[in-house]
Amino acid sequence: MIRADLVVAGAAQVVTCDPARGEGGVGIIENGAVAAAGERIVWIGPGARLAAEVDLAPGGRRVDARGRVVLPGFVDSHTHLVFAGSRAHEYALRARGASYQEIAAAGGGILATVKATRAATLDELVALGRPRLDLMLTHGTTTCEAKSGYGLTTADEIKMLEAIRRLDAAHAVDVVPTFCGAHEVPPEFKGRTGAYVDLVVDEMLPEVARRGLARYVDVFCEAGVFSVAESRRILEAGARHGLRAKFHADEFATLGGAELAAEVHALSADHLLAASVEGVGRMKAAGVTAALLPGTAFFLGLPYAPARRFLETGVRVALASDFNPGSSAGLNLQLVMTMAVSQMKMTLEEALLGITLHAAHAMGLEEDVGSLAPGKLCDLALCDVPDWREVAYFYGVNHVQSVVKRGRVVWGGDRT
Ligand code: NIG
Ligand code: FE
Repeated sequence: MIRADLVVAGAAQVVTCDPARGEGGVGIIENGAVAAAGERIVWIGPGARLAAEVDLAPGGRRVDARGRVVLPGFVDSHTHLVFAGSRAHEYALRARGASYQEIAAAGGGILATVKATRAATLDELVALGRPRLDLMLTHGTTTCEAKSGYGLTTADEIKMLEAIRRLDAAHAVDVVPTFCGAHEVPPEFKGRTGAYVDLVVDEMLPEVARRGLARYVDVFCEAGVFSVAESRRILEAGARHGLRAKFHADEFATLGGAELAAEVHALSADHLLAASVEGVGRMKAAGVTAALLPGTAFFLGLPYAPARRFLETGVRVALASDFNPGSSAGLNLQLVMTMAVSQMKMTLEEALLGITLHAAHAMGLEEDVGSLAPGKLCDLALCDVPDWREVAYFYGVNHVQSVVKRGRVVWGGDRT
């Protein structure tokens, strides 16, 4: 008998996303059940075998899934969770025809959020982040990445990363920090991008690493922002400090960001709206995950990344929200799945793997999250649908009815 202190039983389907249950599929166990001891899964299988194989410890919790669908907790590998201010007025301007780049050139865009974020205190940033994390959790996200990049001074970048650290410590969602000091050139360095890159490399990165505030390094590698050469310098400096690269590549212009991601063996290259298919092929060969963010194309009204052409190269495709105040003010990964299927013609299986296992790969966390198997963290999203595909099909609403994080029911739940 396997000893457990949490049992989730009575599910119509447990969707494991475990490649060991069939490559490319999502590994469905009909009438399945899951058991955990502490934070990790110790057993998973058909509910009919549960009683014979699993012993619920005295005081343990049994969750009745009531014919719902159990999915791995969702993984959001690209978010700008922490920021101050709102840019709803830019949304209104875009509706009247202004482009994201035009708004940025006129002093709006990232720099508008930088101004507001610099003016905010650490406590204020934490207070702003908490309800956003609550929304993520109630929509099924149990692990997310969060970037700095609206500070753009050493002190303000550290303030943002401290806010991320506090949010991670205080919230059920695991929040993994990225240093993105090269998100934009701040106004005081206008026309002196090289000097700003020096500051990022010589001062910010060492200080962030010394304080242990980041796990990844990101750069906005984009026409008019940071060139491929500048991005390479920053990513290589990050690597010397032990930070894995995952960065904004070929979002608006075809700059060679995908090729750079392959060259530096990034964990992921993100956006890729304008990436060359050849560059993405090189990413595949180098083991880099392509993180597509359809919410950004949707929100900005741009053509979607050519996901099918990328998938033909064999590259692993993750899907993330890009939650941020300018280009994608949304964090519902169920809706991201719908966008991926309806707009990028990904299969439902590819879309679900995109917000679970493949997103875990994009964060280097595939040993712990993104699929359901013994040894993995017991992170579950229980969805009130009879068939897992309805999570994307019946779109624009929240199907997540309860959430288990690290073996504990942290939201909702019919608890018995
Ligand atoms: O991923 N491209 C750079 N960063 C964000 C936008 C951030 C913002 O507009 O505040 C993105 O699209
Ligand atoms: Fe982004």
